[in-house]
Amino acid sequence: MPPTEHVKGKLRSQAWWDDPANPEMTALYLERFLNFGLTAAELQAGRPIIGIAQTGNDLVPCNRHHLDLADRVRDGVRDGGGIPFEFPVHPLQETGKRPTAALDRNLAYLGLVEVLYGYPLDGVVLTTGCDKTTPACLMAAATVNVPAIVLSGGPMLNGYHNGMRTGSGLVIWRSKRLLAAGEIDYEEYMSRVCASAPSIGHCNTMGTALSMNSLAEALGMSLPGCAAIPAPYRERAQMAYYTGRRAVDLVREDVTPRKIMTMRAFENAIAVASAIAASTNVPIHINAIARHAGVALSNHDWQRVGADVPVLANTAPAGEFLGEDFYRAGGVPAVMRSLLTAGRLHGDAMTVSGRTIAENLDGVPPADPAVIRPFDDPVAPRGGLLVMSGNLFDSAVMKTSVITDDFRARYLPEPGEPQTVDLRAIVFDGPEDYHARIEDPELDIDDRCILVIRYTGPIGYPGSAEVVNMELPSAVVQRGVASLPTLGDGRQSGTSDAPSILNASPEAAIGGTLAILRTGDRIRIDLDNARVDVLLPEEEIAARWAEHAPPAFENQTPWQEIYRSTVGQLDSGGCLELAVPYQDLTNTKGIPRDSH
Ligand code: FES
Ligand code: MG
Repeated sequence: MPPTEHVKGKLRSQAWWDDPANPEMTALYLERFLNFGLTAAELQAGRPIIGIAQTGNDLVPCNRHHLDLADRVRDGVRDGGGIPFEFPVHPLQETGKRPTAALDRNLAYLGLVEVLYGYPLDGVVLTTGCDKTTPACLMAAATVNVPAIVLSGGPMLNGYHNGMRTGSGLVIWRSKRLLAAGEIDYEEYMSRVCASAPSIGHCNTMGTALSMNSLAEALGMSLPGCAAIPAPYRERAQMAYYTGRRAVDLVREDVTPRKIMTMRAFENAIAVASAIAASTNVPIHINAIARHAGVALSNHDWQRVGADVPVLANTAPAGEFLGEDFYRAGGVPAVMRSLLTAGRLHGDAMTVSGRTIAENLDGVPPADPAVIRPFDDPVAPRGGLLVMSGNLFDSAVMKTSVITDDFRARYLPEPGEPQTVDLRAIVFDGPEDYHARIEDPELDIDDRCILVIRYTGPIGYPGSAEVVNMELPSAVVQRGVASLPTLGDGRQSGTSDAPSILNASPEAAIGGTLAILRTGDRIRIDLDNARVDVLLPEEEIAARWAEHAPPAFENQTPWQEIYRSTVGQLDSGGCLELAVPYQDLTNTKGIPRDSH
């Protein structure tokens, strides 16, 4: 039986609340929704029903204040003439979910697709914040294609320790090094770590959370200025109100996500990603959103559009400041204004405000140059990711903006010389193996080594883990080496300042060449040609494959088994491949058949 056609000239929700051809079903749908005090008159008045996709709960502290912000969203929806319906999204919290929240991004996506498609919703406010909540929501909105608008939760306030800024995540990686070097004790370590989280909100560094929310704004999916407002500021609650109000108009104007998230919008997001030195996780998420929006975006577009865009945001981990400073300095609009003036943005891209990017940016004041640097005096001249390939993988990325002068001096020839370095591989099979053996003196790790971690991709882990930014053995740290080059088929935290080569696709678990790498092999990194190769003859590689026995992966939950059976690789977004052909459901599939 074919799905029911959209009731012509009416809101989608009227197929539930007010279908003259089907009065018995209308009664059935209405009676239960009236039992908490709604009236039939309200639901049958042609008022848009606006979902509030609630990602906040006790398991997701980064987004928990959305429970309160939702009240202001409701006020906005009501004042705009709509009716709000709040519902939960599967919890997605970055640090608390084992084995990794990345495994659950696609589960939350699936759940949200089902809710947006199967309930009487005309539009939706997507509450976002913690890393995976933003992509999961935007992926689902793209698939279903109901009018949608992002409400970011905003970063925490600045953290301070002894008067110095302490940023989320980054303080952990840096304090771990001090702890390993014996410079601080565990109590001091804990107090530094906790100092970085002084209030409600998501991570205050330019990690994956602030990066993804900034890119949602760059895509045109939130109101201008939304991304960076710190969670506790009054402006945040005011933004919640405006966002709710605007959601109702989006339905009336039929502004759907696919009208906003076009190729030009994605190119804008890539330019902004470079300018804010975004997390290395963002190409994965943005590529996934693009695929579900029917836009053919690849890592090559990241190289093409983003490689030579300078870093303007002086925010940690690439720079000094935190989210609260970034907001006060002008936030995403100030960055976009600079890019637009420099001719690096499509000003004609449409946004959920009902105006174009250029119209939104008209009148935006100049940024505070300490925190958001001028285009011609940037934090770093090239903010883009280097997209690498070679005989170990087809695609991996490296964030060049975090390469320190010390690192450059240690590993790379003088500028002008070929930027090539040969390193000895130290290979680990996942983080447990790494932790068990990293201090083993037999490995003889020195500063001519590259630490490699494998079986940490989408299928290997499962979900792909943030483990590529590996710390050094204490003996090496005590010799004054701050970090070594690292390589892996997993990811790393967006708050990390390590210039790792990561997201290697295909991963070792599905036959990527990393699987046959051995400790002691020589790896050549050629930055000029963006290549990473193991220096082994073809015959040796073939011989190793002949005797290679792939490890068995145990699924611990049913979802892990489903996920592994259909997940793609990180370079194409780590999407559920079976979900990708489901595009624009409201237009291609109509409305689902009746429930009784
Ligand atoms: Fe949730 Fe960083 S852990 S935003
Ligand atoms: Mg993370």
